[in-house]
Amino acid sequence: MQLHLSTWPEVEAYLAKSKAILIPIGSTEQHGPNGLLGTDALCPEIIGSRAGEEGGILVGPTFNVGQAQHHMSFPGTITLRPSTMIAAMLDWTQSLTRHGFERIYWLNGHGGNIATITAAFSEIYHGVTFDRGAAKLGSNGGAPLRCSLRNWWELPGVMDICRQLFPVGEGSHATPSEVSVTWFGYPQAVKSVAMTPRIAPNGPILDADDYRRRFPDGRIGSDPSQASIAAGEKIVTAAVRAVISEFRQFAAS
Ligand code: NI
Repeated sequence: MQLHLSTWPEVEAYLAKSKAILIPIGSTEQHGPNGLLGTDALCPEIIGSRAGEEGGILVGPTFNVGQAQHHMSFPGTITLRPSTMIAAMLDWTQSLTRHGFERIYWLNGHGGNIATITAAFSEIYHGVTFDRGAAKLGSNGGAPLRCSLRNWWELPGVMDICRQLFPVGEGSHATPSEVSVTWFGYPQAVKSVAMTPRIAPNGPILDADDYRRRFPDGRIGSDPSQASIAAGEKIVTAAVRAVISEFRQFAAS
């Protein structure tokens, strides 16, 4: 069940059964020569929306622009400053708690978001603790609000499948695993691109210009020419199973 494809009476009826919602969160940033700019937002969205269908979970709109400063030398990348992202996550959360949501499960698709999401949780809990934010924001007199962060690639069982599928050339940015997930979700967007070198170099990043100098096609350590729709289906199937189980435990906590 997706929030943006639901009516308000449907959301009201859902709230009578559950106070928990899943929000996909990611980034809009370059993902190498064959990876989509939306990869880090699309992965949690594809996994989240399937978990929503199969597990009866309400899935909110995707928070699809995040921390992408390092990718700004590649056209199409869009970034938020950390303070903007924290403020926006707080506003989304306050809106949801106003309606009675008490458990917000953020399914993340971008490693670069983790520090800022964690800071946003601190900002959210600060309001709950010091400003009686929960009482002000909730419709229920201040029931405890909990947020949870889960990176999709760290869901139980997922990394094992990625390693089996791509023992060589998984790398750390524009990986064959994440590209496969997006191709499974959007088969019309599959690209065939030759890559040189086949496996991209590894190394540190100083800033956006330095990134493009060191990693001219955007990849880090990866060979995403191995990506396939079939691999994406295997990864998504495992991730969806894990999300449903974890979300249910979180909702009941
Ligand atoms: Ni990515």
